Amino acid sequence: MFAILKKEQLAETVFSVIVEAEEVAARALAGQFVILRLDETGERFPLTLCDWSAEEGWIRLVLQVVGRSTRKLSLMEEGDAILDLVGPLGRPAEMCDGGHVVCVGGGVGIAAIHPICRALRQAGSRVTGILGARSSDLLILEEEMAAVTDELILTTDDGSRGIKGRVTWALEELLKKERVDLVVAIGPAIMMKFSSAVTRGFEVPTRVSLNSIMLDGTGMCGTCRCEVAGKTRFACVDGPEFDGHEVDWNLLLSRLDQYKEEEEIARNLP
Ligand SMILES: Cc1cc2nc3c(=O)[nH]c(=O)nc-3n(C[C@H](O)[C@H](O)[C@H](O)COP(=O)(O)OP(=O)(O)OC[C@H]3O[C@@H](n4cnc5c(N)ncnc54)[C@H](O)[C@@H]3O)c2cc1C
Ligand code: FES
Repeated sequence: MFAILKKEQLAETVFSVIVEAEEVAARALAGQFVILRLDETGERFPLTLCDWSAEEGWIRLVLQVVGRSTRKLSLMEEGDAILDLVGPLGRPAEMCDGGHVVCVGGGVGIAAIHPICRALRQAGSRVTGILGARSSDLLILEEEMAAVTDELILTTDDGSRGIKGRVTWALEELLKKERVDLVVAIGPAIMMKFSSAVTRGFEVPTRVSLNSIMLDGTGMCGTCRCEVAGKTRFACVDGPEFDGHEVDWNLLLSRLDQYKEEEEIARNLP
């Protein structure tokens, strides 16, 4: 069992939980994730490691409530315990050999990009963060992100905080002005698709973290399959980080949509 040590609400549907998980914290690397099962009747679902302390034996997860499992976790309290928590899973994020890296985080993807910014900086890169959300009340982890970046650009769709507009616009403006060696983009699939389209025009290598549907997280079930550079890859073991210019975005988006439709049908069954 994995005890919840601290729980915080970051936005209307976004929560942070600090969980006691000594062995995961001891081996965690930026870009990796865990798979949780909250109780005997629960489904397995993945969440990215946002932060951890190997010395104190905890990990931090940030979750957006979208369905049954994330809602259940958001309703758990400090002192409650999670039944299963497996990880760290997936390949760690690739580091850059110094240089200027721009990390783009959209929505809850900001939580996933946080440890990557920190690791890139520790590896000697200059890191610019571009964070985006629909409005200021959904913009999370601003303080934590300021601590792991050299400069931070904020955008909101409605202009309630930072630049009014999308992260892709801020990214394009930055690429017009500055030399950038690598872009890392994490957020909704559609945001990563368009971030990759922007960087392609500037020929800047781009890494994205795919949020395909996952079940076992071990490369056995095939649920998380995606197509990268014309080959079938499993996001759980070959990723979740891939070259954004090589991902078949239309296939990924249609698989995510198909899942949504199936969910809708299941919900409406008599
Ligand atoms: C490697 C990885 C890391 C992730 N890290 C985080 C994270 O740090 N924080 C976070 O909030 N979420 C993260 N996700 C997404 C998270 O796993 C899903 O939101 C969660 O599984 C939904 O479960 P549920 O039971 O609450 O919703 P369900 O009832 O299963 O689904 C509800 C809705 O959510 C959508 N959904 C389900 N699974 C996913 C998915 N994998 N990606 C996008 N939409 C989905 C469905 O289309 C459906 O409409 C990650 C996904 C992956 C693959
Ligand atoms: S989740 Fe089953 S193969 Fe990746």
